[in-house]
Amino acid sequence: MADPAKFRVGLLGHGTVGGAFAELLPRHADRIARITGLRPELSAVLTRSRGSFQDVLDGSDLIVELIGGLEPAREYLLAAMRAGKHVVTANKQLLSHHGEELWEEARVHGVQLRFEGAVAGVVPVIRVLQESLAGATIDRVHGIVNGTTNFILTEMARTGETFADALTEAQRLGYAEADPTEDVNGKDAAAKMAIIARLAFETPVHIDQVRYEGIEHIRPDDLEYARDLGLGLKLIGTAERVGTDGLSVTVYPAFLYPGHPLASVNGPFNAVTVESEAITEITMSGPGAGGPQTASAVLGDVISAMIPPASTPPAVESLRIVSDVMSSFYVYLEVADEPGVLARVAHVLAEHAVSVKSVLQKGLEDQARLVMVVHPVLESNFFAAMEEISALSAMRAPPRAIRVIEEEFV
Ligand SMILES: NC(=O)c1ccc[n+]([C@@H]2O[C@H](COP(=O)([O-])OP(=O)(O)OC[C@H]3O[C@@H](n4cnc5c(N)ncnc54)[C@H](OP(=O)(O)O)[C@@H]3O)[C@@H](O)[C@H]2O)c1
Repeated sequence: MADPAKFRVGLLGHGTVGGAFAELLPRHADRIARITGLRPELSAVLTRSRGSFQDVLDGSDLIVELIGGLEPAREYLLAAMRAGKHVVTANKQLLSHHGEELWEEARVHGVQLRFEGAVAGVVPVIRVLQESLAGATIDRVHGIVNGTTNFILTEMARTGETFADALTEAQRLGYAEADPTEDVNGKDAAAKMAIIARLAFETPVHIDQVRYEGIEHIRPDDLEYARDLGLGLKLIGTAERVGTDGLSVTVYPAFLYPGHPLASVNGPFNAVTVESEAITEITMSGPGAGGPQTASAVLGDVISAMIPPASTPPAVESLRIVSDVMSSFYVYLEVADEPGVLARVAHVLAEHAVSVKSVLQKGLEDQARLVMVVHPVLESNFFAAMEEISALSAMRAPPRAIRVIEEEFV
């Protein structure tokens, strides 16, 4: 039998993921040749110190971009697609800023732009949203899409240590970068949720339209008291339809009851739950980052691109991005231990239509702590109540509030 024809793969970037991809490709080349009839080989590599983009472009049938950042990654992907090459990337920053431009270019030139590695590492979220669930109307997606923060929150809950100590441990074990800013402040998760929301709701979503908050301010106390209420804390991305024409995309620390499918996702793992009336809910979970793991998602994309086409369809919806939605909250108040305080707090809450689901009161010398969970309420109402409560004379510290995700699927 004749040898299979070669399929030349050009690689931009040879760091954590690019290096792992360069090792993985030859190991799987024989098997891929049996599946596709083409034998992939690494044809050229570009880094800051070696190779030229033009050589990679000219000598490849498909380009894999693993440089990261906005430029020159954007310029290289556009040039590759204009030259009629399929492209694969794991670059969430780029897609959350310039996704529409890049997807349009892929459609215009009839090439594939694949990006499974950009969201939740090797967990096949993109493929499931674009292909398996293409026939379902999605109502809501929840995701733990940043492994660094999930590891830190798991450690804080397990050991009672502070955010700073848990971060140091995450860095020691390689779960956090030397500069973890965009992980811990929620921006990395916001980029991934922008991509997820775009696919789930067919509406263009730019990272600037995602409201996000990180976990730097979380204290061991929050986790301890919440445990008494049966709650566990995660950094949760949410993309949900609001009314008939709205879409809300957020990333916030949120408490989950133990029945929620994301409640048991611990350590550096990622998971995404998709809710739709037709399918109830499905949850996918697995390693969310790491060189070999992400490289395996990238290689899966390369194999898919070697088999006949699929492209990201145009954004056909134009849902309004909504910023005031219904949420449930955990509230932590440090108040003077004197009669009538709970009644005053309850009065302010009631005036703003905030209703309490459960409450704990703990005394501490001349202070008391009121820890409560409130039923879902319009966020603007809730924050107005918090502002009024913070002005009460009995308050000993500013109120602290964290969202609670209410649904249980058991
Ligand atoms: N690391 C993960 O676990 C992970 C997980 C999911 C997705 N991703 C995504 O995968 C992509 C790559 O991440 P990474 O962690 O592998 O990054 P990395 O380790 O920093 O590697 C980046 C590579 O790109 C090269 N590069 C940087 N700027 C360049 C430029 N202007 N021209 C040519 N080459 C350039 C670097 O060259 P030098 O070798 O010369 O420095 C290096 O080889 C990013 O989009 C990231 O968000 C990473």
